[in-house]
Amino acid sequence: MDEQNKKDEIEEIFSYYGRQRDKNSQEMIVALLRELQEVSGCLTPDLKHRVLETTGTSEKFLQCLIRMYPSLKESNAVHEIIACTGERCGRKDGMLLLKRLKTELDIQKNGMSADGTFELRTRNCLKKCKTAPNIMIDGIVYSGDELQDIKKIIEKIDLVVDWKKHCEKQKEKV
Ligand code: FES
Repeated sequence: MDEQNKKDEIEEIFSYYGRQRDKNSQEMIVALLRELQEVSGCLTPDLKHRVLETTGTSEKFLQCLIRMYPSLKESNAVHEIIACTGERCGRKDGMLLLKRLKTELDIQKNGMSADGTFELRTRNCLKKCKTAPNIMIDGIVYSGDELQDIKKIIEKIDLVVDWKKHCEKQKEKV
């Protein structure tokens, strides 16, 4: 399944479960998590965040459910970056930003950085079109001019230590 199909399927899943009356019941949440995992491969922080939004359940309950069902797997990435590839962001160099992120973080075909620290995903709209372009890092949206220097952003969000480790690993590989 290519990335676009995956994204469409994930949107469909959220849309379906969002319409269910008992969407915050344990059965429904577990079914939602299973379907998401089937498409995505694992439960990323972004997917979990959206499950909270869609079902209105608490983070504590969600984590409890994930622990209760060992077949549910969370992403191992330490940091998740979501780049918006929607129309408004695309018009404001969103795709260029995505390309730079992929290069800077040495993102592989599976969306993970070579050292497994970062997971880069895309979304069609982060619902912040007015401030395009936008990217979300660990749940925080960064926009417009502040994205001029990606390295600065990564440092700003307190990833200095991880970033240095990441660079050292990259150097070792050369
Ligand atoms: S298109 Fe990027 S936030 Fe809407």
